[in-house]
Amino acid sequence: MCGIIGYIGPKKVVPILIEGLKKLEYRGYDSAGVALVDKGKIHVKRVKGKIKELEASLKKSPLAGSYGLGHTRWATHGRPSEENAHPHRDCSGRIVIVHNGIIENYLVLKRKLKDEGHTFTTETDTEVIAHLIEKHFKGSLENAVRAAIAVLEGAFAIAAISADDPDKIVAAKLGPPVVVGFGDDEYLLSSDINPILSHTQKVAFLDDGEMAILEPSGVTFTDFKGNAVKKKVETLAWNPMMIEKRGFKHFMLKEIFEQPEVVRDTLLGRTSLDSGKVLLDELGVKPQLLKKVRKAVLIACGTSYHAGLVGRYFFESLAKLPVDVEYGSEFRYRDIILDKETLVVVISQSGETADTLAALRASKGKCAAVLAVTNTVSSSIAREADGVLYTHAGPEIGVAATKTFTAQMTALALIALYVAQARGAVDKKASLAFIQEFQRIPHKMEKILGQAKTIEDLALHFVPFSHFLYLGRWVNFPVAMEGALKLKEISYIHAEAYPGGEMKHGPIALIDENMPTMAIIPEDRVYDKMLSNISEIKARLGYVLAVAHENDAQIRQRVDAVIPVPAAHPLLMPFLTVVPLQLFAYYIAAKRGADVDQPRNLAKSVTVE
Ligand code: M6R
Repeated sequence: MCGIIGYIGPKKVVPILIEGLKKLEYRGYDSAGVALVDKGKIHVKRVKGKIKELEASLKKSPLAGSYGLGHTRWATHGRPSEENAHPHRDCSGRIVIVHNGIIENYLVLKRKLKDEGHTFTTETDTEVIAHLIEKHFKGSLENAVRAAIAVLEGAFAIAAISADDPDKIVAAKLGPPVVVGFGDDEYLLSSDINPILSHTQKVAFLDDGEMAILEPSGVTFTDFKGNAVKKKVETLAWNPMMIEKRGFKHFMLKEIFEQPEVVRDTLLGRTSLDSGKVLLDELGVKPQLLKKVRKAVLIACGTSYHAGLVGRYFFESLAKLPVDVEYGSEFRYRDIILDKETLVVVISQSGETADTLAALRASKGKCAAVLAVTNTVSSSIAREADGVLYTHAGPEIGVAATKTFTAQMTALALIALYVAQARGAVDKKASLAFIQEFQRIPHKMEKILGQAKTIEDLALHFVPFSHFLYLGRWVNFPVAMEGALKLKEISYIHAEAYPGGEMKHGPIALIDENMPTMAIIPEDRVYDKMLSNISEIKARLGYVLAVAHENDAQIRQRVDAVIPVPAAHPLLMPFLTVVPLQLFAYYIAAKRGADVDQPRNLAKSVTVE
């Protein structure tokens, strides 16, 4: 969590840091700050609250400087407050740092530094780093940073400046991401590429154990011992336009509407309508290896976990493989039993989620291969996996994942079919039928998006409610989970998801006129079962809304309101049923005046445990 930014170059520094922080704000937004070096002094401004508060404060009392750092915080150690906001200073105020991550041994270090005479002014773990750099500073900032980080335990992306070793920003990474941008005589560093894109598409990603030293003359890379490291400078395909709202009120709404394009782009060039084959040479995993696979384990967190749950049905139905789906945060603490016939797939939009990354590391070498599904090129997960399938969703700025969910499901379906073909579990006719159906999905999504106003009108009735139940079965049960997650994270309405058949085992006790139910009930193998589950709710005076096939006349007699969706291959229905649920949650949250793109307490990229 947290976002860090740094700039060194000829332009005015404050606007670049503020614009950059706004683009990083999704990573954390309880306090923010900047530090600028000006004529041998470092000036720091910090505020509690969002970047707009920092911006207003800088307008009132501007800061000058020729280079600097910025930070937007998601609190881990120390409550959100001005004092705990970054940047943090050493005793003299001549060394300043920003940090993303957690220093696990900070209490021990703090006690020792205090005994040595250092004075602490914050409750954060980060402040120890500033004092450690101070302790080791003998004229070279990079040497002092190296000595400081040698005693840190935990995870960190840090950037430091010193008034006594001027015109230099030193960054180091162990865990959370650091990207360096190469402009014309200007250099940036950031927690992700979004702030960099407005300046340059040329970037280098730090690996764990690496440092970058940014100076007006260029960037030097080293390892933590000071040995020179040669980095590849990549030119990104994403452009600045992709991170604008383009007329939509919120990024989330724009991203919901981008889904047909995202599914098309993620499918593009990866299937053949002649041979019926899935073309995934880019995975870098030999089909012979996949032929031997006897089991799949899908690992992820949050929305990506829900994509994994949908993925389970693709692997079972197409590849005929047994599948476990695991939370990254739980998997890493299990007695992990994997073997060389098990395929592990980790799923992460950001490619930086600490728990998913830890699960990847725990699996690597113990299974047939670890594949990654991610939206973020050169992210830690992408770099460490044995093979990667990128979701071509473009940058997702809304904290609530939407288009990356459908992109992840697309990628998982492709991998499942690829494995199925390698194993000979699916013939050409069935493959072709599936691919053809898949290619019709984006158009069907567009039809649903065309009904956005009707979904909005319906959603507005539920603005005052405090609880919601989501029901689905089979491949649509994970969609119910995702619908409930969307509602709770952006509108703060309590929502729970159950497989319809579980209602009678407990949750039905909750049903009354204050507990509406959203039922996902396309005409598939569990349609009749879901109808019975709905009847049980109606018999107890529960209000039921249904997401159902547009030609289903029966359902209209059985429920209070219907959101119609086109019919599709049953396994592909989640691509369609999830769209109304995303819109439903969005319209309720927007009407409640919630901060849809930056819900309270959340951050887009969870790079701490
Ligand atoms: O970047 P990741 O896909 O690994 O992130 C996983 C979760 O943190 C993420 O899906 C989170 O649950 C979102 N708030 C969902 O909207």
